[in-house]
Amino acid sequence: MFSKPREFPPYELIDKTIVEQTAHKTRKLERLYHLTQSHAWDGKELFGQLVEKHGPPGTNMDPEVRESLSKLMTVLMWGELAAWNISADLALEIDDMDAKMAATGQVFDEARHFYVMRDYVLALGPAKQLGGLPKRLLTKVLDAPTLACKLVGMQLLFETNAVVMFRRIGESGICPILEVLLPYFERDESRHVGLGVMYVPRLVKKMGRREALLTRKFQLECIALLAASGFTLHEDFKRLGMNQRQMASRVTHMQDEIVRQMADEQGDVLGAVLTKGRWGEHVIDFVHPEGGIAEASPFHQSVHSGLTRTFKALDRAWA
Ligand SMILES: [Fe+2]
Ligand SMILES: [Fe+2]
Repeated sequence: MFSKPREFPPYELIDKTIVEQTAHKTRKLERLYHLTQSHAWDGKELFGQLVEKHGPPGTNMDPEVRESLSKLMTVLMWGELAAWNISADLALEIDDMDAKMAATGQVFDEARHFYVMRDYVLALGPAKQLGGLPKRLLTKVLDAPTLACKLVGMQLLFETNAVVMFRRIGESGICPILEVLLPYFERDESRHVGLGVMYVPRLVKKMGRREALLTRKFQLECIALLAASGFTLHEDFKRLGMNQRQMASRVTHMQDEIVRQMADEQGDVLGAVLTKGRWGEHVIDFVHPEGGIAEASPFHQSVHSGLTRTFKALDRAWA
């Protein structure tokens, strides 16, 4: 069955009084679109230059490290494709002219991120299958029931995790190509977070209690899938010298900062958006105990390894 056709053309986009009333906010969001253009980079050219300088990805890399890097980059690559599709959906669904422009700019960036990442992953070795848990997470946000859920999943969860992971992989010295390449990704992703910061509060303002609760529930389910996916990648992160506890703390810190910025934009959003809070600290302490799991209590270790086995089995079954 077809849904009700949307009103077309949307005359409010050129209504002078509305445009003037929102001119200030419009300028900030509209700026994101123009920044996309002025900061655009040529992925083919940059990647080509880096391969010429350092040799193909994986040159002189330990085979086990290469294997783990390939696994992680595969997740990030499909994440970029999901980001491309989701931002295209946002560009279509969002009604505000300014936010629509920002989302359109993001589509342009994510397309470049995907093709560069794909070129890298394919050059590193045969592409790996995407694990079932990250697959569920990506499809969950792709099929999000509301625009607010889609924005929270995309801008608050995917983008923040991507920014932190890109920085850590870039700094780790694993691959000289990624060391130069990933800061370009990171700069674009940081800009994308801006759309969520400026637009989610507008949606929250219009929400009833039911939709606010639905949004929080959606966010919580995404966090659970994200954390479960992390369990399946423990050994790979370790092999790549990436500290998951540190990354999880950085991500949640960044998310709390985003929620604070949202509140500065247009008032409280906490009815619809979760922050780390104290329970978040406990979750991080449990999943990534300080000093490593080997130093944790026997009970903690056995629950942790039971969960790891369960999530790995689910990851295979749902792949
Ligand atoms: Fe991206
Ligand atoms: Fe992005």
